[in-house]
Amino acid sequence: MSNHYKIEIKNIYKIFGADPGAAMEKIKTGTSKSDILDQTRCVVGLNDVSLGIEAGHIHVIMGLSGSGKSTLIRHFNRLIDPTSGQVIVDGQDVLQFNKQELEHYRRHKISMVFQRFGLCPHLTVLANAAFGLKIQGVERSQREEKARYWLEQVGLSGVEEHYPHQLSGGMQQRVGLARALVNDPDILLMDEAFSALDPLIKSEMQDQLLQLQQKLNKTIVFITHDLDEALKIGDRIALLKDGELIQQGTPAQILMEPAGDYVKSFIGGVNRYKAIRVGHVMREAQPLAMVKGGENFSQTPPAGHEMVRASQSLEEIMPLLMETDSDLAVFDDDANLTGYLNKNKVMTALYH
Ligand SMILES: Nc1ncnc2c1ncn2[C@@H]1O[C@H](COP(=O)(O)OP(=O)(O)OP(=O)(O)O)[C@@H](O)[C@H]1O
Ligand SMILES: [Mg+2]
Repeated sequence: MSNHYKIEIKNIYKIFGADPGAAMEKIKTGTSKSDILDQTRCVVGLNDVSLGIEAGHIHVIMGLSGSGKSTLIRHFNRLIDPTSGQVIVDGQDVLQFNKQELEHYRRHKISMVFQRFGLCPHLTVLANAAFGLKIQGVERSQREEKARYWLEQVGLSGVEEHYPHQLSGGMQQRVGLARALVNDPDILLMDEAFSALDPLIKSEMQDQLLQLQQKLNKTIVFITHDLDEALKIGDRIALLKDGELIQQGTPAQILMEPAGDYVKSFIGGVNRYKAIRVGHVMREAQPLAMVKGGENFSQTPPAGHEMVRASQSLEEIMPLLMETDSDLAVFDDDANLTGYLNKNKVMTALYH
């Protein structure tokens, strides 16, 4: 079971304050976060959070300010240790790591991108990107080669010798991303990484992250308080409130099966036409390769089906859907037939 997940968080509690024991007793009897603060002077950071994160997924953690997002993500690289609970990565209990194991883990397996970029102002872009390798003692030509490679991957060739203040916010965050990627970690933690950027730049960064992810296939834990951002980039979304996990699921599940009034009010303002994608609501096609015994042949839908892409929003395909009477054939970005879409499904999704 546990092996299924890249990262598994089991029953994590985090109490800030002088007497976590007293606060823990009260939590277990269902006392609220604000009452616990009044009665014990302790802050409940996380309250019995369990979460499974699959390899190769972008897992978004969402919630209002103070809901515990940063506290949660900091458990993953052990910037914070829990009051109780387990953090399992690749089947290993991270909390049991000794000093060397923890150092190895932080250097090779997991990196973090910060909201305020966290660049050293007196170092060039190249030196900033190479920073993690420098402290590992990697020799100069080798670390610069890797840094150049990752700067190119994030679209930043040509500014290697510039200093951070000479770059726009979006470019600075690209340096932050290159720096986090430079030791090719499996896991990337991004805490409000795009929140400080202008809307247009932010949207570009989201697109670029998605593109990069297609190639890199990292496990990305992405914190945001921006629902549109969460819906756009998340394979899964976990919603926190007062340190508790309220719901976790795919963007479509969050939008179409909100667990209770809090989630409903959270998603209230979102434009469903934009947020729900064809792939979220289509009926999946039979895997043709299996039907035909594994032969590889071209996947052609029966004639008369208009074609759309799984990544398109309902808004984009709505005119076509309204015009046709038969199902739409859905293709992925590699032009494989993946499903069919009919009006009923779409209407249910929108007017649920
Ligand atoms: N070091 C600390 N000492 C005491 N309380 C803390 C500490 N760190 C976090 N908290 C409290 O824990 C709760 C969760 O904080 P956290 O920073 O994880 O929230 P967040 O969801 O990341 O918020 P934001 O969106 O503002 O970054 C809050 O009530 C916060 O005040
Ligand atoms: Mg935070």
